[in-house]
Amino acid sequence: MKILVTGGAGYIGSHTVIELQAVGHEVVVVDNLVNADLVSLKRVERITGKAVPFVEADIRDREAMEQVCQTYCFDCCIHFAGFKAVGESVLQPWKYYDNNITGTLVLLDVLGKSGCKNLIFSSSAAVYGEPETIPVTETCPRGRCANPYARSKSIQEQIMMDMQKADPEWNIVLLRYFNPIGAHRSGMIGEDPKGIPNNLMPYITQVAVGKLEKLSIFGDDYDTVDGTGVRDYIHVVDLAKGHVKVLDSIAGQCGLEIFNLGTGVGYSVLDVVRGFEKANNVKILYEIKERRAGDIAVCYSDPGKAERMLGWKAEYGLEDMCRDSWNWQKRNPNGFTD
Ligand code: NAD
Ligand code: WQD
Repeated sequence: MKILVTGGAGYIGSHTVIELQAVGHEVVVVDNLVNADLVSLKRVERITGKAVPFVEADIRDREAMEQVCQTYCFDCCIHFAGFKAVGESVLQPWKYYDNNITGTLVLLDVLGKSGCKNLIFSSSAAVYGEPETIPVTETCPRGRCANPYARSKSIQEQIMMDMQKADPEWNIVLLRYFNPIGAHRSGMIGEDPKGIPNNLMPYITQVAVGKLEKLSIFGDDYDTVDGTGVRDYIHVVDLAKGHVKVLDSIAGQCGLEIFNLGTGVGYSVLDVVRGFEKANNVKILYEIKERRAGDIAVCYSDPGKAERMLGWKAEYGLEDMCRDSWNWQKRNPNGFTD
């Protein structure tokens, strides 16, 4: 299939491009590089031995998007492009709504008019808010979102549901990712956050590599196994493979489907710290701090629907995720700028 990958130079997109090319899909990446470095795609090319056609454009740029769609006549689009930093979204909500929602609106319009009505969308477990039940199934209602980022995902989902209802020619798959970590086994690509990381694993790897002094653990008084927050960490390569499974099985024939992509296993912050130390034989200094505003105690998925309908199941465990995250950071202490 000929696939448009928006945001394909980013963390999850670049790993997905590798898996798509590995099974013979033709990929074109559109990215404005607002949160990525073109080096990531150069590294992807070295890993796969195949060229990755790249167009530097903002998905809100209608003319540029029309041009790309006209040139390539895509069969499907995998839509990763967007902003994802929760804290920043609280401070700059307009920026998030504009980029994430306007971007999606323009993309849907241009794609539809070009005749490509097959879309896979990067949604997030964040749309569940404080989940009604654990493990979280896809039938759990979208909740009261804790921040503008999460709300932007929930709104994008709703827009896609409404579009698909109005025009049943659309085939749309909403993938709700849990907590992606890890990196490609080669250590050549991985997550490269700008500034001080917000998320747990990049913070840990930057402590390990000596860029940050110690990890702050946000709260040890939650009602969990050891008092620290519990999440469903999933290896980014497993996540990437989930997209390929969607293309193999239902893209183009589903109407609209929603899948959780997670492992179904919850680990606490201390589990991750200890897992990282054990897998890599590195010590992580930490201190317990106040709870972080907006955090919930526990969130992990029921990934059973993806297994039943897509034949997809996460294969990597915590040790693999910790090993591969460290391998990437150790080889690239300054990310792609090395
Ligand atoms: P990322 O920031 O590494 O990748 C997003 C890419 O989109 C970047 O390369 C960025 O330059 C590009 N981009 C942003 N706005 C754009 C625009 N207007 N036009 C063109 N390109 C644009 O993030 P990621 O972690 O790879 O996440 C990919 C998607 O998955 C995002 O939509 C994110 O919200 C979603 N998601 C991520 C996580 C996570 O924890 N990483 C979890 C759930 C969902
Ligand atoms: C995980 C756990 C923290 C950092 C976020 C977004 C969500 C989704 C995935 C995009 C929590 C604790 C963290 C630190 C810590 N992204 N922690 N010290 O908050 O589950 O989800 O990323 O869709 O929308 O909200 O992930 O990695 O930030 O936190 O103690 O320095 O680690 O409190 O329990 P989170 P995270």
